[in-house]
Amino acid sequence: MQVKIVIGTISFMLTMMILGFVALQEPARLERFTAARQGRQIEQGAHLYDSQCATCHGVNGDATECYDAATGERIGCQGLPLNYKPMLCGDRTARMVALGWDGTKHGFVAATIAVGRFGTAMPAWAQEYGGPLRPDEVEDLVQFVLNWETEELCAQPDFVFEWPATIEELLVAFPEGDAARGEGLYTTYGCSGCHGNLTDPASAAVGPWQGNLPEVAATRVEGLSAAQYVYESILYPNNYVVADCPNGPCTVPSSMPNNFPLRMGDSPERPQDLIDIMTYLGVLPLP
Ligand code: HEC
Ligand code: HEC
Repeated sequence: MQVKIVIGTISFMLTMMILGFVALQEPARLERFTAARQGRQIEQGAHLYDSQCATCHGVNGDATECYDAATGERIGCQGLPLNYKPMLCGDRTARMVALGWDGTKHGFVAATIAVGRFGTAMPAWAQEYGGPLRPDEVEDLVQFVLNWETEELCAQPDFVFEWPATIEELLVAFPEGDAARGEGLYTTYGCSGCHGNLTDPASAAVGPWQGNLPEVAATRVEGLSAAQYVYESILYPNNYVVADCPNGPCTVPSSMPNNFPLRMGDSPERPQDLIDIMTYLGVLPLP
């Protein structure tokens, strides 16, 4: 009798110890499980990104190197950079502030991918909104995009250039333009993806053709020189929205990206890019 009680007590205590040990391990096990699941999502998101998104947002997500999905030919990137500090760093990123998004960063990316951006080249991707992707695929892409946030990216200096009101003032700091460099940048920033090249009017897909921009720009807004008009049109597309686009009336608000002040002003030297593009377009140097 005595012996049975002792054995019973010991085995009870042993069971409790094992249970306690398992319970203590549970958070670590859950964490490993979650990390493994997230790893799989990121991997699947990477495949989806390569096949669906890279053609507009670039192979590295920085919207500088894009290839036509069908022909493999190098093309101008139409999308915005995603592997990009203003898009990823901080709880409330610069892009969320610029677009007035009050929810979470995850929600911002998820909603953008699911719904797209009406009036722009960014289509809706979720089946719920007429796109091709299931909810879990949208979530895989969100995890993949958010995974670009690294300490290195976010440690980049936070610099925001104060754009002067007039092109003349900008020229004081950046007096010389380089048209050949501007031609490359016109593709790198994705301008050519929407505006085509300067030689063939039929190459313009989304925005007005710019082969004749110096003449057109001089007549767009009374009292504005061609250079001042183009300067403002690139930085603030909604200041003046053109009436006619290649596919019919241009949409209002403008479907041209409005974050070039951020992208062309993220370092003290970068505004040179705008001067070079305007030189390539033929509205600089000033007459
Ligand atoms: C046909 C070109 C195109 C494709 C393909 C495309 N996008 Fe976009 N995307 C755009 C454009 C253009 C914008 C900017 C819209 C605007 O002006 O607000 C954009 C914006 C975004 C943004 C918000 C960026 C910001 O700074 O506001 C995210 C996130 C995004 N895209 C993710 C994706 C993902 C993920 C895919 C693939 C499933 C994808 N895009 C496919 C053209 C594209
Ligand atoms: C996603 C497509 C898209 C991209 C990318 C884009 N634009 Fe545009 N752009 C448009 C559309 C659409 C318009 C016409 C509506 C408006 O006036 O904003 C326009 C208008 C303009 C105008 C005024 C043209 C006129 O005939 O009056 C200029 C100048 C211009 N864009 C320059 C640029 C430059 C330079 C870049 C690259 C740094 C660029 N755009 C990138 C779509 C785009």
